[in-house]
Amino acid sequence: MSKYNFDEIVDRRGTHAIKVDALGERFGNPDLISLWVADMDFKSPPAVANTIIERCRHGIFGYTSTSDEYYNSIINWVNRHHDWKIDREWISFVPGIVKGIAFAVDCFTCPDHEVIIQPPVYHPFRIIPTLHHRTVVDNPLILEAGHYKMDVEGLKKLINPASKLLILCNPHNPGGRVWTREELIAIADICFEHKILVISDEIHSDLAFVPHKHIPFASVSEKAAQNSITFMAPSKTFNIAGIVSSYSVIPNKKLRELFHTFLSNSELEAGHIFAYLAAQAAYDNGDEWLVEAKDYIWKNICYVDEYLKSNIPQIKAMLPEASFLVWLDCRELNLLQSDLVSLFVDDAKLALNDGIMFGTGGEGFMRLNVGTPLANIRQAMDNLKKAVETKQTSI
Ligand SMILES: Cc1ncc(COP(=O)(O)O)c(C=O)c1O
Repeated sequence: MSKYNFDEIVDRRGTHAIKVDALGERFGNPDLISLWVADMDFKSPPAVANTIIERCRHGIFGYTSTSDEYYNSIINWVNRHHDWKIDREWISFVPGIVKGIAFAVDCFTCPDHEVIIQPPVYHPFRIIPTLHHRTVVDNPLILEAGHYKMDVEGLKKLINPASKLLILCNPHNPGGRVWTREELIAIADICFEHKILVISDEIHSDLAFVPHKHIPFASVSEKAAQNSITFMAPSKTFNIAGIVSSYSVIPNKKLRELFHTFLSNSELEAGHIFAYLAAQAAYDNGDEWLVEAKDYIWKNICYVDEYLKSNIPQIKAMLPEASFLVWLDCRELNLLQSDLVSLFVDDAKLALNDGIMFGTGGEGFMRLNVGTPLANIRQAMDNLKKAVETKQTSI
């Protein structure tokens, strides 16, 4: 019997949740079904709120340091869930993974350097280095039989002396791939050989679905360990993105000293009371919640897949191997991207992410967030079916 109620509809309006309160500003309609920003509409594990409430009762919120318990929670979690043994000194708090990526770009590259990404991919991988005046080079993923794979040969071809950084999305957003050991080793070998530092963003790692198992990039070989910065967080896993509790893991001493000095020079490694407490509470008490959450998310994914197959076969769901984001292949609708977006927003009253924001390969796709009660997904699918039918009869 399930212990947590993921069917509960929690009204998030008025909480400054970007996902719901920015709908009007972003989509021109505040009343859409919100299936875009990558957080979930589920309450976090009760231990998170209970720990914060208990700490609030104390009433004094002075300067706060990290604790042994905080580090041990991270170390135990990563070992228990990902079979990766990390040392305390490898870990540093970072105030968000996107910020962490920006810090790494600043710390390890110069304006004339190239940063390699594998689109379609989480858009800040392109935006952040670009804003920092680095040249972003695409090594697009290969889409084969509805499944993405990395273009290892393509990667080798585009490398040149200016290539300094590769940002890896492991698991991948929006394609949902949990990269295999072979794929990760190939990237590790090439990047090591060419002295290209790998940033492995593993924010979706805890949400891999059986039989897929997340493999931390740095754990695949010594070359990977010595040439990478891994970013992890309990934020996607336990729906606590607003608390901001991410961290970096760097096994290589020289890289670690450079990055930690970069952070500490501006006190960027200093977290806050609730970040430490929430991460610890979630990691120590969240296993059961996570099993149920993943089970619920997987059922939502299957619902979408079956619904589309039976009712809107022109749209195909790419089944994610991890996380709550479903990449919808809408290319058979044969619509211009602006018309596709309008079909979802104006006709179906749905707010999804426009595939084009994820860069090369995103055209014809939309990203659907299924981290929400099934009732919302059912309504969304019914709206979409009606909108597609209406559109097709009007053509
Ligand atoms: C791959 C990936 N990295 C990072 C983030 C955001 O991380 P943070 O909120 O810690 O900056 C997201 C959020 O959607 C994501 O999908």
